[in-house]
Amino acid sequence: MTTPALTVTGVGHTYGTHTVLDDVSFTVAEGEMLCVVGPSGCGKTTLLRILAGLVPPARGRIEAAGHPVAEHGRGIAVVLQDYHRSLPPWLRVADTVALPLRDTPLGKTERAQRVHDALASVGLSDVDRKWPARLSGGMQQRVALARAFATRPSILLLDEPFASVDAQTRFELEDLLLRIRAQHAVTTVLVTHDLDEAVYLGDRVLILSPGPATTVHTTLTVDLPSPRHQIDTRACAAFVTLRAELAAALRRADAPA
Ligand SMILES: Nc1ncnc2c1ncn2[C@@H]1O[C@H](COP(=O)(O)OP(=O)(O)OP(=O)(O)O)[C@@H](O)[C@H]1O
Ligand SMILES: [Mg+2]
Repeated sequence: MTTPALTVTGVGHTYGTHTVLDDVSFTVAEGEMLCVVGPSGCGKTTLLRILAGLVPPARGRIEAAGHPVAEHGRGIAVVLQDYHRSLPPWLRVADTVALPLRDTPLGKTERAQRVHDALASVGLSDVDRKWPARLSGGMQQRVALARAFATRPSILLLDEPFASVDAQTRFELEDLLLRIRAQHAVTTVLVTHDLDEAVYLGDRVLILSPGPATTVHTTLTVDLPSPRHQIDTRACAAFVTLRAELAAALRRADAPA
């Protein structure tokens, strides 16, 4: 059996006396898209920060390709929920996207090409010289995505990445993510509150229980054919059934024991 891209074993986390996560375990296969859903405040962002190695878990282990995430080093890119705070106000858009490439062995020309390609992929080629504060919320969110794409990560962690873009842009960015995943076999963990999005994008959906002491309630396998299509996939009977199953599972997770 091949080593999973991500292995989460018995992860628990506590803020002060408040236990947010308790005994969370799951794996993500190489190239898989795992969507994570759960009630607001249950600990999804906390989990993503732990997966990214930004917060050490109080308990448990995270391994990327069989190594502890802290040692994994490069190869994990994260787009945080509070993306607007993650864009330095003193850097123009292109310099922000270039920031994670700073300590790589890439030459100047290659770096510029990466930045150009990443901005083009999110439809922002024309704002490369702008300051982030001059962009709309949705555009800032796309800059944060471009910065993650520019590093060509093997693992991409996304926290509600399309929450503040309009419906049409959201569809385009969802399909961009699917294309990037297909082309580069990027392992992706994506947190979303949108159940349709979870089914549309996911190979599996991880359903977390409500807090406190959130754990994995269940996982749903999304066996829809690829490539997916925004109109046809969402209209097919299997999609509608899966969405209903996901809604029912969330309701069960929420029901008092
Ligand atoms: N730095 C922190 N210090 C103390 N408590 C925190 C901190 N970060 C999060 N929390 C608490 O931990 C719990 C989980 O927060 P988290 O942001 O992980 O939830 P979430 O599932 O991402 O919520 P949402 O869906 O609203 O984004 C909440 O009760 C929150 O108040
Ligand atoms: Mg969150």
